[in-house]
Amino acid sequence: MNDLSINLKGKVALVTGGSRGIGRAIAARLAEAGADVAVNYLRKQTAANETVALVESKGARALAIRANVADHENIHHMIDEIKNYFGKLDILISNAASGVLKPAMELTERHWHWTMDINAGTLLPLAQYAVPLMGESGGKIVAVSSLGSVRAIPNYAAVGASKAALESLIRHLAAELAPQGVCVNAVSAGVIDTDALKHFPNRDQLIQVSLEKTPSGRLTTPEDVANIVLFLCSPLAKQIQGQTIIVDGGYSILG
Ligand SMILES: NC(=O)c1ccc[n+]([C@@H]2O[C@H](COP(=O)([O-])OP(=O)(O)OC[C@H]3O[C@@H](n4cnc5c(N)ncnc54)[C@H](OP(=O)(O)O)[C@@H]3O)[C@@H](O)[C@H]2O)c1
Repeated sequence: MNDLSINLKGKVALVTGGSRGIGRAIAARLAEAGADVAVNYLRKQTAANETVALVESKGARALAIRANVADHENIHHMIDEIKNYFGKLDILISNAASGVLKPAMELTERHWHWTMDINAGTLLPLAQYAVPLMGESGGKIVAVSSLGSVRAIPNYAAVGASKAALESLIRHLAAELAPQGVCVNAVSAGVIDTDALKHFPNRDQLIQVSLEKTPSGRLTTPEDVANIVLFLCSPLAKQIQGQTIIVDGGYSILG
């Protein structure tokens, strides 16, 4: 009989923005499959410590690492810390994001660069520092994107454009890294009720519309995203390269 359960025992994962929301759910799922997890965060140490405890409760090793993913030097130090503590890295999840939510015509140059640096500019240095730690057996890179990369959403011009750039980089990295056994993909989601949503001026309306228009009849959860990330990190998905998998209960297939 085939054993189709996903076993990541012996693997080491980094989840950027792993302390809260979707990142925490991803860290927990990877740990349930056996992976040790480095939990990156920026400001909220208590939340990071809670995620570390959650990962450890599943029998995996965990390390909280404070680093600003918008800063290349911070990324370098974070990967060094992983090398020193775990000795390697097999799975890179680029999940942390931020950004300015305003109509396009109100965005300043600073807003634009801030959003681009964190959401689009991070994956490249992360991959450049992380891939050498992956060794000859290859590895997995998964970025978390959003439907704003391909759809126009009020107040989402800068973040949507940054996610579109992220998805393009995923394709280019996949083409470059596939020959060395590294799978590079993205998971994109519709509205998920995390802390991030509190920053949207139209949060209640977003949730209401999403609930009404989602064929599956419910909002997507962090765990829904984490399940697909886990699949992409498994040997079952090794022929998937450069794709963005949408997890939204069917919201985006409607007009
Ligand atoms: N929520 C949604 O509706 C939705 C939908 C589709 C896609 N997404 C995507 O899913 C991902 C996670 O979103 P979320 O809703 O889970 O967000 P969230 O609840 O606001 O959590 C954000 C996480 O990112 C960390 N972070 C923020 N800026 C950082 C930086 N510069 N350096 C390092 N860490 C940083 C935060 O750490 P601290 O708390 O320490 O600052 C926190 O762990 C993002 O890529 C987002 O675009 C979200």
